[in-house]
Amino acid sequence: MTHNPFFQSHLYSISQLDKEKIELVYALEKIIVSRLQTGTLKPLLQGKILSALFYEPSSRTFASFLSAIQYFGGGFIPFHGMEASSVTKGESFEDTIRTFSHFCNAIVLRHPDKGSSEHASHISSVPIINAGDGGNEHPTQAIMELFTIQSHVHDLANATITILGDLVYGRTIHSLLGILSLFPGITVHVVSPQELLLPRDRVSALRHHGMNLIEHTTIDDRIWMSDVFYVNRIKKEKFKDQKDYEKIRNWFRITPDSLKKMKQTAIVMHPLPRADEIDTSVDTDPRAVYLTEQLDHMVTVRMALLAMILHPDPIGALQE
Ligand code: NCD
Repeated sequence: MTHNPFFQSHLYSISQLDKEKIELVYALEKIIVSRLQTGTLKPLLQGKILSALFYEPSSRTFASFLSAIQYFGGGFIPFHGMEASSVTKGESFEDTIRTFSHFCNAIVLRHPDKGSSEHASHISSVPIINAGDGGNEHPTQAIMELFTIQSHVHDLANATITILGDLVYGRTIHSLLGILSLFPGITVHVVSPQELLLPRDRVSALRHHGMNLIEHTTIDDRIWMSDVFYVNRIKKEKFKDQKDYEKIRNWFRITPDSLKKMKQTAIVMHPLPRADEIDTSVDTDPRAVYLTEQLDHMVTVRMALLAMILHPDPIGALQE
């Protein structure tokens, strides 16, 4: 039996993970991919039910979690937006979490408040999986992004990654930076308008971990030799005054000209949805992986995580 540190545990922050845990998810994902390809996947989560409580909009995260549980033969309770739930009658977050934890085996939660998943983990009697807590974190997204990066960049500790966009509300970025900090020595350029700098406490924590973190407010030549370009949307919905958004919405754009400056081996990533920050003519360049490889990992990594959380020995069970 492979020791499974995820079993019956919550996943609300990337800081709960270390390299060994990530290796386990990676190993299980590989088995899942090959079982899906050969049509030999066992219904490991038959009889298990996942509640998806999404207080905020979602396409990929919501759909890929539901897809993941169903591939394993499990069921789900989908709340895509809470408008049809008792939340509209004024039910508290705590009561909602307490209630659903009696109806299912795990809850995947997206909520606009920072820390909501960690808070829910103190209330729920079943594991909570964070699918985005405000502008804070999105840990499951970061795991699959790491796997996409690792299939192109073999020596991460000596790699250079550029992250562009909204560094304040970019929760995928916060989780990705957390996971990259497990590779001390890595160089990361973070590029954003002055209004959307990475929060100071995150900058100091990452540097403390040994990350060579370089901040930019303009795109300068130093970034073009990067191995990875991770682009993210400026979050229009977070601006109280839309005029402030209009001022910075076009501050950068990846175009065919940008591709000319990048290494042939570089990759361009994006958590999606995209607004205007990557020109659609970039999509067909082999270095663009946001509509291909990144999406490929979305369901299988979530399958691996659900199996780890809901089954005591998924690696052993799938290898039998
Ligand atoms: C992102 C999110 O919701 O944080 N998308 C995702 O889950 N893949 C990014 C965004 O909304 O810009």
